[in-house]
Amino acid sequence: MRWLIYGVAGLALLVAAGIAVLAVQVIEGGPNEAGGILGQPTVGGPFELIDGDGRTVTEKDFAGRPMIVYFGYTYCPDVCPTELIAIADALDLMPPEEAARIQPVFITVDPERDTPEVMKDYVAAFYPTMVGLTGTAAQVRAAAKAYRVYYARQEPASEGSPYLMAHSSFIYVMDANGKYVRHFSMGTQPEEIAAGLREVLAAG
Ligand code: NI
Repeated sequence: MRWLIYGVAGLALLVAAGIAVLAVQVIEGGPNEAGGILGQPTVGGPFELIDGDGRTVTEKDFAGRPMIVYFGYTYCPDVCPTELIAIADALDLMPPEEAARIQPVFITVDPERDTPEVMKDYVAAFYPTMVGLTGTAAQVRAAAKAYRVYYARQEPASEGSPYLMAHSSFIYVMDANGKYVRHFSMGTQPEEIAAGLREVLAAG
């Protein structure tokens, strides 16, 4: 029996050591390192989209400023407006000179209806410096994929009513180099978002 006990104890040690190694790798690498660590997805990266004036923009156009990014669509009846208001409120809670260093970005998952003009008018209603981005179906699909955003068209319950888009709802914070820093889940209060953004600014 002794060999069995030693065997089990040894196995437990190996497992514990393995978990410790995994934990260290996760903490050191984080989920956003190039290529991901341990199969964790990267968030963000290159994108090509169209701004409210119909110009093609890429992540390079936002280099040098931390971004707060949200994906949704202008026809969204509840979640998107709520989250965009939370972003705007968070920026309003920050000292103005700090808020001015953050670029808020709203990216549509519904390019069929969200034309550049529609996006431009929509974001302006939430925050003066918020940028609304759309694109071709392929451009939007690529950007959403980069940010690990799920979306799918849902046919309306009744004929004649507008279709809805199911979509994941995370607020992403990217640093001045365009690297993922963190995200906020749906319903996060503006105070917490503001504190998180100030941390990003303080970190440089
Ligand atoms: Ni929505």
